[in-house]
Amino acid sequence: GAPVEVPVAKAEPGQQIRVIWRGKPVWLVNRTPEMLATLEGLADALKDPNSDNVKQQPEYAKNLARTREGKEQYLVLVGICTHLGCSPTYRPELAPADLGENWKGGWYCACHGSRFDLAGRVFKNVPAGANLEVPPYYFKDDNTILIG
Ligand code: FES
Repeated sequence: GAPVEVPVAKAEPGQQIRVIWRGKPVWLVNRTPEMLATLEGLADALKDPNSDNVKQQPEYAKNLARTREGKEQYLVLVGICTHLGCSPTYRPELAPADLGENWKGGWYCACHGSRFDLAGRVFKNVPAGANLEVPPYYFKDDNTILIG
């Protein structure tokens, strides 16, 4: 299928927007500096903190932000839980008591309780075994992402 074009301005700082790519939900999140700062220091709480599972992102997104270099605020993820395929819920707020002691915002899958951080990295002690997938994407220009 053709790439899906997304104007990044559609996502306000801190917001997630949803598009469909190849029949799948794909999220674009415009992360604030505060949200990016939450990615530091979580490694011990995560199953694959360095994104070593190469199937879960393109090579250019194998970094802390899980993004293209220089565009770290814009996270692109396939919105499908890596456990059994439910769609996790965006929970960007810091540390709701019900989401655990290391929770600094991310996604929560209500189906069986999997949790992911604000880069889509999966926490330990949840049923999902892999980080959320980063699809292939590139910037057509500073304001436009092409997914696919
Ligand atoms: Fe998400 Fe099972 S499908 S936790």
